[in-house]
Amino acid sequence: MKEILQQIKDVVVDGFTACGYDEKYGMVSLSNRPDLCQFQCNGALAAAKAYKKAPIAIAGEVVEKLGDNTMFAKCEVCPPGFININLSDEFIAQFVSGMADDEERFGVEKVAQPKKVMIDYGGPNVAKPLHVGHLRSAIIGESIKRTARFMGDEVIGDVHLGDWGLQMGLIITELKLRKPELVYFDESYEGEYPTEAPFTISELEEIYPCASGKSKEDPSYKEAAMTATYELQHGRRGYQALLSHILNVSVNDLKRNYEKLDVTFDLWKGESDAQPYIPDMVQKMKDDGFAYISEGALVVDVKEDTDTKEVPPCMILKSDGASLYNTTDLATMVWRMKDYNPDKLIYVVDKRQELYFTQVFRCAKKTGIIPDGTGLHFVGFGTMNGKDGKPFKTRQGGVMRLEYLLQEVEDKMLEKIKENGTMNDEDALKTAQIVGLSAVKYGDLSNQASKDYIFDIDRFTSAEGNTGPYILYTIVRCKSILAKAGVDSIDTAILPAHSDSERGLQLELTRFMAALNSAYEDMAPHKICAYIYDLANAFNRFYHDTKILAEEDEAKKASYLKLLVLTKNVLEKSIELLGFKAPERM
Ligand code: ARG
Repeated sequence: MKEILQQIKDVVVDGFTACGYDEKYGMVSLSNRPDLCQFQCNGALAAAKAYKKAPIAIAGEVVEKLGDNTMFAKCEVCPPGFININLSDEFIAQFVSGMADDEERFGVEKVAQPKKVMIDYGGPNVAKPLHVGHLRSAIIGESIKRTARFMGDEVIGDVHLGDWGLQMGLIITELKLRKPELVYFDESYEGEYPTEAPFTISELEEIYPCASGKSKEDPSYKEAAMTATYELQHGRRGYQALLSHILNVSVNDLKRNYEKLDVTFDLWKGESDAQPYIPDMVQKMKDDGFAYISEGALVVDVKEDTDTKEVPPCMILKSDGASLYNTTDLATMVWRMKDYNPDKLIYVVDKRQELYFTQVFRCAKKTGIIPDGTGLHFVGFGTMNGKDGKPFKTRQGGVMRLEYLLQEVEDKMLEKIKENGTMNDEDALKTAQIVGLSAVKYGDLSNQASKDYIFDIDRFTSAEGNTGPYILYTIVRCKSILAKAGVDSIDTAILPAHSDSERGLQLELTRFMAALNSAYEDMAPHKICAYIYDLANAFNRFYHDTKILAEEDEAKKASYLKLLVLTKNVLEKSIELLGFKAPERM
């Protein structure tokens, strides 16, 4: 369906052109005085200058022309030259009926030219536990992915594991100290390596911090870890076998964690997968004259004349020839283009890496790794802070592991559900998991991604206010009324509103398309949140002043129920795009 604002605009534009004015003056927007009207057109004020006429006269002519269009209940001039518009209840009802008839998409059309999009999100580092810093990337990226898919794009999500750094050398060094007899350390060994890993995930998670601690204190230990990293990266067989064990064990654990978050990836590629592409990429940069040696390192200039801040050169290789985070990201683009040839690459990463991505993007464009037709987008997110305004920590002051955070929220939810006391233990636990996830995800997504926010467990788990649980309550409320009515689909049209609150709800439903389109275009899940919060409020207002099940007029009751089904479906579709679900009861 065509967006409602567009439909109104089409009519108003006709009004302007019929009166001899340019179509560009037929602009319509949501009213900024909802007490006066639903929509407004300010075009006559702009046209006045061009046509040297009083705005009120122009507005008057146009209103006269639009006069008896059935789309409008009101279309009038308001000094000094605004056109105030209210839609007719019949038109609104027809529009929402159309949405209700489209049971899959509620009138939202797919984009005319679907794109192939790759999203780089999650970005966990192997062998280090997932912490809350990785939470935001996973939550935001997942929602951007789901939304783009719904809009018709072909979307490939890649977790882009951090699996190529010093952390690998550290683990190998510590392991060698603890179990020197392992065959992986025997350089003369030529046979097959065991298929079973010589450690479990808990050992791995203990080994890494231990090794990292030692390396900070003991320079020779750090030296050993760097050597191990170098040897690993230059093909030492035993170490590569260890790397694949570390990867397997970690990835299994990561998958388990992401599953709890309802986050899935199409590709589980990592930094290490980019390594084979580095030599040719570097050679080409040199041959093409882009890369040059500066203070021993190989760099590419990426500053531009319009820069207001200094953008340093993009470093490709360190003076010892070692590759860096940049090198890996650029080489990753090489295989992404070669294997997938996407129209667009989106990176959902901490905004503190923004300058870094500016350098990498410019370098990729300049050197031709990314062709002109492919867009590069950085979606930078802010920090999740604790109530003290500082980055979120455990009570002991350590880095909060994602699992513990989720557990804490779930426990809190369970406590609340048990206070209400109507569910058996098993249902209560399941519900706490579902609602807890909504609290965490909505708490995050309802903020503009680039902003920092405060993780406030009491607020996030509250059933009142702009929260996930509030949205879920609203959905559950719809479900329970429909269950009581004994229907889940109704074959009737939605009738013109019978009250202000019903009109409010219907109008709010008409905004769904616009909300989704702009969330999609701006890669901004918070716009979906803002929309469903308004929709839930409009629904609850309607619910509180309408007798739905007790309505005696059958046609009216059926129309109410149909409106309920649509509201529930639109809310459920929206939370699906945000990445969570609603329970049956709460
Ligand atoms: N592993 C990185 C980190 O923990 C994030 C990776 C972001 N993605 C990328 N292509 N660089 O900071």
